[in-house]
Amino acid sequence: MIPIKRPTFLTFSTVIVLSILALLAGAVFLIPLSDDAVRPVAFALLALLVMVLVFRETTEHTRAEDAAHKAQTLNAELDQRVAQRTRELENANRELETEIADHENTTEQLRLLTAHLQSAREEERVRIAQEIHDEIGTLMTAIKMDLAFLSKEIAGKSGPRSPETLQQEIGDTTKLVDNAIQTIHQIVLELRPAVLDHLGLRAALEWQMREFQKRTKIECQFDSNVDALRLDAERSTALFRILQETLTNVARHAHATHVDASLREQDHHLILNVHDNGTGISTDQVTSTHRLGLLGMRERAHIFGGDVVVQGGPKAGTTVTVRIPLRGKEDGGD
Ligand SMILES: Nc1ncnc2c1ncn2[C@@H]1O[C@H](COP(=O)(O)OP(=O)(O)O)[C@@H](O)[C@H]1O
Ligand SMILES: [Mg+2]
Repeated sequence: MIPIKRPTFLTFSTVIVLSILALLAGAVFLIPLSDDAVRPVAFALLALLVMVLVFRETTEHTRAEDAAHKAQTLNAELDQRVAQRTRELENANRELETEIADHENTTEQLRLLTAHLQSAREEERVRIAQEIHDEIGTLMTAIKMDLAFLSKEIAGKSGPRSPETLQQEIGDTTKLVDNAIQTIHQIVLELRPAVLDHLGLRAALEWQMREFQKRTKIECQFDSNVDALRLDAERSTALFRILQETLTNVARHAHATHVDASLREQDHHLILNVHDNGTGISTDQVTSTHRLGLLGMRERAHIFGGDVVVQGGPKAGTTVTVRIPLRGKEDGGD
């Protein structure tokens, strides 16, 4: 507030009252004067003096009020600006706090994801070791027994057999060898989807769907318009793994009977769309940061500037749409 120069003991009304009292006192003082000619002149002069004083005081008073009003307005403006600035600072502070929290959240998610990938890798190793032991081990044992039997036969240590029976036995053993080759082929594919380079993305995804159908008895359909696409190993692997996680989720959570998948090339993007007719993922589950499967899928797509959209509803099943930009021309891709 701007200070107003004014003696505090002399208020406006006090001045007016004093002036009237002075006028009355002057009048009383002037009555005893004998000279009739001087009396009106002296009284007029006194009145004039009082009027000048009152006028001066009134002007001073108005000016002081103006100044006070201006000061009040300025003060209110200042208060308003301070309040607004405070609000702005509080907002900026809140945003900063949110950003810090987001950052901490992301760091925590990445830490969890790394741990998850590590344990998933371990689990995968155990599973594959088990598969090699169970499938290949069993087949090899059966083949070895067949060969031992044939060897005894040739050495004449077991009863005589007709050439047809021997042929049949050799045929059975050959089937076991074929099975072993097939199983090895599958394990290699699971181990290193880098063989995507040989099969191509489309065939690899198709293969994965077929395997899934065989394993789960959930009917699968796959459709694609990307016949002659040559894609780098990183993008192919990402899409292969994303489909793998999506199908695992279908088997684990969806209670679906049918899965439709398609791989399309559109506007310099590869779009993988997987739809199941199951219970449908909820919005909370889509946005949850506690589970790592969907998070891992998004991370894989983000690496290439792509994204993953997951939608679902009780009657609509679940749809996962992955968009990954195709390699730019400068990278030598299509
Ligand atoms: N196809 C689906 N149908 C129904 N629910 C799903 C589907 N996919 C994912 N979900 C839900 O979303 C959650 C998060 O999935 P995800 O991140 O892969 O974690 P996880 O599979 O380890 O539980 C799942 O726990 C499940 O509740
Ligand atoms: Mg999962």
